[in-house]
Amino acid sequence: MASTGCRICGGRLEELVDLGAMPPANWLLDVPDFEQERYPLALDHCSACANLQLRYCLPADVLYGHYFYVTPTSSSLDRHYRWLLDVLFERGYAGPRSAVIEVGSNRGAFLKAISPHVGSVLGVDPAANIVEVARKDGVDTVCDFFDADSAKRIAEARGTADLIVARHCFAHNEWPQRMLEGAAALLSPNGVLVIENNYAAQMVRDVEFDQIYHEHMFYYSLSSLSAMLERNGFRAIDVEVAAVHGGSIVCFAVPTNSERKAHERVAALLETEKKQLSPEALERFAKRTYAIRDELRTVVSGIRDDGRRVAAYGATAKGATLMNFCGFTDAEVFACADSTPIKEGRYIPGTGIQIVAESTLLQDPPDFFLLTAWNYKTELIAKARSAGAAEVEFIVPIPNVEIVR
Ligand code: TMP
Ligand code: ZN
Repeated sequence: MASTGCRICGGRLEELVDLGAMPPANWLLDVPDFEQERYPLALDHCSACANLQLRYCLPADVLYGHYFYVTPTSSSLDRHYRWLLDVLFERGYAGPRSAVIEVGSNRGAFLKAISPHVGSVLGVDPAANIVEVARKDGVDTVCDFFDADSAKRIAEARGTADLIVARHCFAHNEWPQRMLEGAAALLSPNGVLVIENNYAAQMVRDVEFDQIYHEHMFYYSLSSLSAMLERNGFRAIDVEVAAVHGGSIVCFAVPTNSERKAHERVAALLETEKKQLSPEALERFAKRTYAIRDELRTVVSGIRDDGRRVAAYGATAKGATLMNFCGFTDAEVFACADSTPIKEGRYIPGTGIQIVAESTLLQDPPDFFLLTAWNYKTELIAKARSAGAAEVEFIVPIPNVEIVR
C-alpha cells in the first residue's frame, strides 16, 4: 500500500530515490520469467524523525510467496554472532540463566551460537519451510508472525523472556510497532530487546542503494529507531554499529520504566547522525545512486564489446535490485554464482539470469564477477582465488565502481 505519511511519526515525506518498478527481490522462480509482476520501488524521507521508508509496501503473502532466504554459512556471520555474544554478556544484557527468544530466527544460526551460554532458547519465524530446517537442526521454533497475540501465547506457554533478539526483521514489517507490542507482552521487566537492522547512515555514506528492495520497508538510524521506541513504551540504552550485512545498527532497548541506565554511546550517536543524515548527505546519496547505475552500465557494456563475459557472484536480494535498476539481463550477465543449494537453477527475478552452483563457476570462471554479494567481498575474492580462479576480475559496485584484479 502506498503511504501518505511517515509510518513512525506521521510526518510529511519527500522522495529520496526512485529505482523504478521491479519484482520482489526474493522471488526466485524456476522459469526465466521477464514478465513477472513489477511493483514500484521508491524510498522516501521524513525530516521530522529521520525515518527512511518505502513508498509502497507489498502485503506479506505477495512478498513471501516465493521466499528463499536461508542464512548462509559464513565466517563473517559467525564472527558477528561471537561479537554480539560478547557484548550481551559483558554488559549484563544476558546471563547464564537467561530465557532468550529470537524473532525472525530463520534457520536458527544465532540461537545455536547463544544456546550453550544461556538458560533456554526459542525461535519465532513465519516461514514454514525454513522453520522446518531449524527444527530438524534441533532449534525449538514457533512458526508464527510476531505480534501481541503470538507473544501472549508464547508468554503463557513458556513464560517471559529475559532477552528478545530481533535481527533484520523490523525493516521487513510495514507496521514494526506491532512487533514492539509483541516485545512488550513477552519481555520480563528487567529484560532487554536487541534490534539489529541495516544501518541507514552507512547505506547513505557508502551509497548502498541496492539495500533497497521491497522486503526492506524501513532503513533505520538510531534517530528513527528511538522515535519509534519512544512512541511504543521503550527507550534505547545502548547502541553499536557492526560491519555485518554492509553495516548494521544494533540497538539495545528496554521498557521505558526499566531501571537500566542509558549509555552515553546513545546520545553520541544521535549527535553524529545529524551530520550523516543531513539534507546534503541525502542529496549526495541520491545523485551517486544514479551515477553508479550509469557507470556500471558503461563498464559492463564495455566488457561485452571486448567479447568478454560477466557473471554475478551472490544471488542476493541486493543483486536483484542492482540488476533490475541497471536493466541487466542474461545478455549482459550470463549467470549468477551462489552457494545456496535451493537457489540453484532458479532465476534472479525480472532478469532471466540463472543461478548456478558457486563451485561450477569457480571451476570454470568468467572473465569478471560482478560482486552482488559485496558484503562478503574479502571472503568471496579469497574463496575464488583459493579455488584456483586466479584470472577472474571483480567488479565491485559500491561505494565506487571498482575493478579488483
Ligand atoms: P546475504 O548477503 O543476503 O547474506 O546473501 C549472500 C548470498 O551469497 C547468499 O545467497 C549465499 C551467497 N554466498 C555464496 O555464494 N558464497 C559464500 O561464500 C557466501 C558467504 C555467500
Ligand atoms: Zn517521521
